[in-house]
Amino acid sequence: MIGLVVAGGASVAVSSVANAEPAVAPHAQQLTAEDGELLFRANCASCHGLEAEGTEAGPSLIGVGAASVDFQVMTGRMPMAFQGPQAEQRDPQFTQEQSDAMGEYIAALAPGPDVPDEQWLDISQVDDEGIARGGELFRINCAMCHNVAGAGGALTEGKWAPHLRDIDPVHVYEAMLTGPQNMPVFNDANISPEQKREIIAYLNYLDENPSVGGFDLGSLGPVSEGLFIWIFGLGGLVAVSVWLTSRPN
Ligand code: HEC
Ligand code: HEC
Repeated sequence: MIGLVVAGGASVAVSSVANAEPAVAPHAQQLTAEDGELLFRANCASCHGLEAEGTEAGPSLIGVGAASVDFQVMTGRMPMAFQGPQAEQRDPQFTQEQSDAMGEYIAALAPGPDVPDEQWLDISQVDDEGIARGGELFRINCAMCHNVAGAGGALTEGKWAPHLRDIDPVHVYEAMLTGPQNMPVFNDANISPEQKREIIAYLNYLDENPSVGGFDLGSLGPVSEGLFIWIFGLGGLVAVSVWLTSRPN
């Protein structure tokens, strides 16, 4: 047992030290697409190929655009820690500048969706009506995977739709634009930039008003609510009947 703990701890320490140091350090304030290419070759090419053409271990990134790179790298999904049904999220391994440089490099290979314009992330421009519309759009397009309250849920084959609490607006926008993993792409013809902003405003509203109806039991729906009724509802009934029958005649 002690041997396992020591060996495990040592390997975690070694790998986190290795992860903490990106192979190319930022040498200038402004990184270019060439820096991005170097960073990409050092950190991503083992899976995505030297020219981002894809290998057996990772898909081609030609045409995925800067938005996809920003989303994957800055939410800590890439570089993928280990092969699995879906990339685990960790702390981002690169700075915003390094990620932008890699995004520039990928965007230079072939056109793809670009990182969103500031104005579509500014939710102060959305009024209450817009938030309500955002809620409607969310329930129509997103709730079947992410749950009505944005609490997330399981999908098939070991994949899952994550919870959507406290996600950076830019990453919500980019997720819709690029459709990571099993998520569909919601391009601008599907959901316009204004509507994307309304969805972001709605998610922000959920962050600020997590549960108007009291204790939410994790917002997981019938499973946790049913469990609650089984344990406390039925348990209470059993307790009452035991108490009734135990009363002296
Ligand atoms: C261990 C292998 C591995 C490494 C290393 C890795 N990736 Fe990935 N990457 C994957 C796999 C597998 C997928 C597809 C599965 C997924 O998205 O969960 C993917 C998906 C992506 C996507 C989404 C593609 C799309 O269609 O939108 C981007 C962007 C990406 N990787 C960028 C990077 C960048 C940038 C790096 C380096 C910082 C990197 N990856 C390192 C394996 C890897
Ligand atoms: C078919 C199921 C599905 C639908 C519909 C869907 N998503 Fe997703 N979503 C996913 C999956 C799966 C992931 C995780 C991808 C990954 O980890 O690579 C995800 C990831 C995300 C993320 C990233 C969360 C994080 O923790 O970084 C956001 C934000 C998001 N989705 C928003 C939305 C919005 C907004 C909609 C509706 C417009 C939507 N999704 C519709 C399946 C779905």
